[in-house]
Amino acid sequence: MLKPISPDSSIFYIGVDDTTIDLFENQYPVPHGVSYNAYAIRDEKTALLDTVDPRATEQWLEQAAEVLDGTAPDYLVISHMEPDHAGSIQALAERYPEMTLVGSAKALAMLPQFFRNLPRNPTLAVKEGDVLELGTHTLHFVMAPMVHWPEVMVSYESAEKVLFSADAFGKFGALCTDEPWTDEARRYFLNIVGKYGTPVQTLLKKAAKLDIQTICPLHGPVLTGDLAPYLHLYQTWSSYTPEEKGVLVAHASIHGNTAKAAAYLAEQLKALGEKVTVIDLCRCDMAEAVAQAFRYDRMVLAASSYDGGVFLPMEEFLLHLQYKAFQNRTVALVENGSWAPCAAKNMRAVLDTMKQITVLEPTVTIRSAVKPEDEEHLRALAEAVRQEA
Ligand SMILES: Cc1cc2nc3c(=O)[nH]c(=O)nc-3n(C[C@H](O)[C@H](O)[C@H](O)COP(=O)(O)O)c2cc1C
Ligand SMILES: [Fe+2]
Ligand SMILES: [Fe+2]
Repeated sequence: MLKPISPDSSIFYIGVDDTTIDLFENQYPVPHGVSYNAYAIRDEKTALLDTVDPRATEQWLEQAAEVLDGTAPDYLVISHMEPDHAGSIQALAERYPEMTLVGSAKALAMLPQFFRNLPRNPTLAVKEGDVLELGTHTLHFVMAPMVHWPEVMVSYESAEKVLFSADAFGKFGALCTDEPWTDEARRYFLNIVGKYGTPVQTLLKKAAKLDIQTICPLHGPVLTGDLAPYLHLYQTWSSYTPEEKGVLVAHASIHGNTAKAAAYLAEQLKALGEKVTVIDLCRCDMAEAVAQAFRYDRMVLAASSYDGGVFLPMEEFLLHLQYKAFQNRTVALVENGSWAPCAAKNMRAVLDTMKQITVLEPTVTIRSAVKPEDEEHLRALAEAVRQEA
């Protein structure tokens, strides 16, 4: 069944839902799957925009054939060479050897890296400001280097005012699961594109000059209607600005005492009126922990000491935050140790490598189990965290 992106549109959705994948990029749990989006523009010339992951090639080829209605596509526009979008290029090129492959010079240069026996389709390297006339539709190319990978470009179609935004504005979750956008878009953005805040800011500035009515990303739903909330969240996330006031309490506890301290602290914070999310780093999705850390303006890290260092789930969490350029937040520390507490020193060493992190003093040190005087110190820490709001 043909799926135009709006009732009278000549732009069609030909993407595929993947509900059987467990880990996206072999690391992010996707309990509701993911969609590999692809589009087709039917005009005097026909353009396909991106392909899909090799897991979905056959279904996508069938959908493309239905839109093409027995004709061959004139162009395949390649926004991004990552296999979740470019993985079916070879299959398409073999079917349509006359079709022109359109992409940035860097994207075209990557083609032989991924495909050894690509047919000799014509290619067209495009750069910032180049246009491709399709008839009544015109694609304007906007380079978006490092909005995930260096070869990325987005395309603006001026007749229907559609931005094909590549990985930007994407979301985890197959389209068949109709869930709210923000939570899974946040987890997607901050883990996948989060490190590249500055390039995303550059793209947002370019996008602000365009009259955009619809955003067609490579994952998740096509965005229509009032686009301001989506643009606002992207502005917030890419500038490393906290999305809201609140506290993530993240703990890593070997025998459970540090977890109890974290729960006690969380209760104190709630009693003071704070919005609080508690995450057990030993059994959570790390990507969700990262997303929650970016969401709030403050964070409490509570961890057991471990072999002269910090219990590894906490170390791993901090490493993830460091990789994703975590910055511009206030952090409080709680450590536990039975003979030579050293978790806080090790947590701080990683935090010190990050930009604009304020570590609240004093750190709370617990020896083995939480005692009344520890509760007193935790209450004082909750007050100090509250003062930073
Ligand atoms: C393998 C292992 C290594 C540990 N290393 C240290 C250490 O280097 N320094 C220390 O003070 N305590 C160390 N501990 C004790 C833990 O920090 C202890 O579990 C903690 O004080 C109690 O908090 P918990 O119940 O949250 O684990 C270690 C415990 C284990 C099981
Ligand atoms: Fe990507
Ligand atoms: Fe992607």
